[in-house]
Amino acid sequence: MLSRHPLIVGNWKMNTSLADAVVLAGAIKNGLENISHVDVVLCPPFVWLYPIKEILTKAAPKNLMLGAQNLHFENSGAYTGEVSAEMLKNMIEFVILGHSERVKYFHEDETIVRKKVHKALEYGLHPIVCVGETAKSTQAAGFVSQRAERILSHLSQGELEQVAVAYEPVWAIGTGKNASSDYAAEVCAKIRSRVGQAVKILYGGSVNSENSEEYLIHNNIDGLLVGGASLKANEFLKICEKSAGE
Ligand code: PGA
Repeated sequence: MLSRHPLIVGNWKMNTSLADAVVLAGAIKNGLENISHVDVVLCPPFVWLYPIKEILTKAAPKNLMLGAQNLHFENSGAYTGEVSAEMLKNMIEFVILGHSERVKYFHEDETIVRKKVHKALEYGLHPIVCVGETAKSTQAAGFVSQRAERILSHLSQGELEQVAVAYEPVWAIGTGKNASSDYAAEVCAKIRSRVGQAVKILYGGSVNSENSEEYLIHNNIDGLLVGGASLKANEFLKICEKSAGE
């Protein structure tokens, strides 16, 4: 089961050089030494996972973990350019699945995301399943929560305890136009009503250190998925510190 602390996930997307990645991970590791009431996951590009794993195995705080941004649902085979859960299992603990950028650019549909969720769980990884509407609408809560429910259907209670859902309105991602916390809370409450208490629910979309706190005061928001602001160590650490309430 995931801990009760807020879960703050940094999605680096296709950013950072190796040198940037090492400096960023090192700075976050050092900064987190005094911030304990929060769980933090760094999701760098695949190729930096191994060097960052090396940094994190050397006396890193226990609440700092590693995640991937994707995986393939098969274990191995002729899938050029893909990476499997089997390859990742000893390197990471979390994996972002079904991010809207993967839906938009790589045409991932619900069936594919569901297969990936099952594969991640089979290998003991925590899936962070992304859902979100493309345009603001009064139908958003219904649409988004049903998608989450369909993707997580057929999971056992024990499996649901390993899962996080990230509510990320597509219109808020990378635009600087974050959803108001009331809007996000309403959608997350609807997601909660469909996926149950065991699943952690995160908000993502233009989160920064100025707006991060307002989301976590809502009961149904258990953490944050942070893109752009996770690439700046000080900014990301401020988000972690505020989320920890320390
Ligand atoms: P953003 O990205 O914080 O840059 O809006 C969030 C995400 O895509 O996960």
